[in-house]
Amino acid sequence: MDIRIQTSKARTFLPGDIWKTLQPAVDRCHRDILSRTGKGADFLGWVDLPSSTSDHFLEEINEGCKRLRELADVIIVIGIGGSYLGARAVIEALTPPFSATVKGQKIPQIIYAGHHMDGDYHARLLQYLEGQEYALIVISKSGTTTEPALAFRLLKTHLEKKYGIKGSRRRIIAITDRARGALKTMADREQYKSYVIPDDVGGRYSVLTPVGLLPLALAGVDVKQLIQGARKAEQELKRTAEIEKNPACEYAAIRYALYESGKFVEVLANYHPGLHYLIEWWKQLYGESEGKEFKGIFPAGVNFTTDLHSLGQYIQEGRRMLFETVLTIETPETQLVIPRDEENLDGMNFLAGKSMHEINALASVGTTLAHLDGGVPVLELILPRLHADTLGQLIYFFEFACALNGYMLGVNPFDQPGVEAYKKNMFALLGKPGFEEETNQILQRLQQ
Ligand code: PA5
Repeated sequence: MDIRIQTSKARTFLPGDIWKTLQPAVDRCHRDILSRTGKGADFLGWVDLPSSTSDHFLEEINEGCKRLRELADVIIVIGIGGSYLGARAVIEALTPPFSATVKGQKIPQIIYAGHHMDGDYHARLLQYLEGQEYALIVISKSGTTTEPALAFRLLKTHLEKKYGIKGSRRRIIAITDRARGALKTMADREQYKSYVIPDDVGGRYSVLTPVGLLPLALAGVDVKQLIQGARKAEQELKRTAEIEKNPACEYAAIRYALYESGKFVEVLANYHPGLHYLIEWWKQLYGESEGKEFKGIFPAGVNFTTDLHSLGQYIQEGRRMLFETVLTIETPETQLVIPRDEENLDGMNFLAGKSMHEINALASVGTTLAHLDGGVPVLELILPRLHADTLGQLIYFFEFACALNGYMLGVNPFDQPGVEAYKKNMFALLGKPGFEEETNQILQRLQQ
């Protein structure tokens, strides 16, 4: 694996023999993942996904994209949670922010929908689509989630008006369960081109299935390289559970030790705006996997140096219940050098000749030292370059460590029972059939 982890700046906050203490628990949890004997073992399909995804399947994905690209300049990706964040994380990290071409090839504009229920957003999206050639990718494992189902209904109606019922069918791709759910029923009836989300892979572990791969390939991401990177990580992280030889075990062990010592908030920090959505994906992965039974680290995220002018104050001097993990990219894709200015009115000539990357990297070093001085343990995750290959490694690394952490905490990292609470209230308030009793109860409660 090319990704490295540095935990020395956090271990100084913990007893010297912490690895020795935690190794038996890590061994047990590593074994539970590989032998599929832990909680939620039916959802461990992601563990073998990279090695079991064939090149033939990836070619099929690329072929499917070619067809869609010929039809559409704009692709709407409809989904929420694990059916949304993985694709967005990788697209934002790897595709250029100000250009519609990747490696000389024109790529469609990717727009997201169904990841919230804001009417204005969706109304404006429909207006925008009036003048566009577009297609839809609708993603939902359960096929019944309210947010994407509503967005799909709105967009499908618009699409059918524009292209007719028959014409619209070839512009819709469904990614859903093999056999169950309303989306599967619709896809079968309307004969949409469909892709299957494997039964044993849950939403937040699904970025390396068609859920992530299809939107990524459409956006010009090299999905073969992404899977290749994930395969490297799979090989290495399965090989041994020894904390010092397995970066995922090291990350899981240090997180667990810090949590046990009272650090119950982890702040994942980046210095590269393209990684903003990777942090959003990580927050969802860890928040939904660990936060249950009144346990778990609260996953938070910051974009530096932007947030050094806001949340940086809290990290430096607020309550000491947090630790920080810094994502670093060693080598940038470009070199942008600060020019000398004869008048030097801004006083910045001391930086002339230095690259933006160098300055950003030194800001990171300075910040880490300041946070350490402020009592914040700091972990570092270092990526040599920001490529599909390294991102594939990082995704698998985070998934593996997350499952380990869930097992170390004693929870099932693959379910999300808490998500049902808001849905129950919302359905009761909206008068969904079957929720009559809950509706009466909630209305009485609101009158009190
Ligand atoms: O990680 C998860 O399982 C969830 O975040 C789901 O991905 C999310 O709720 C969307 O579910 P679905 O794909 O069934 O619409």
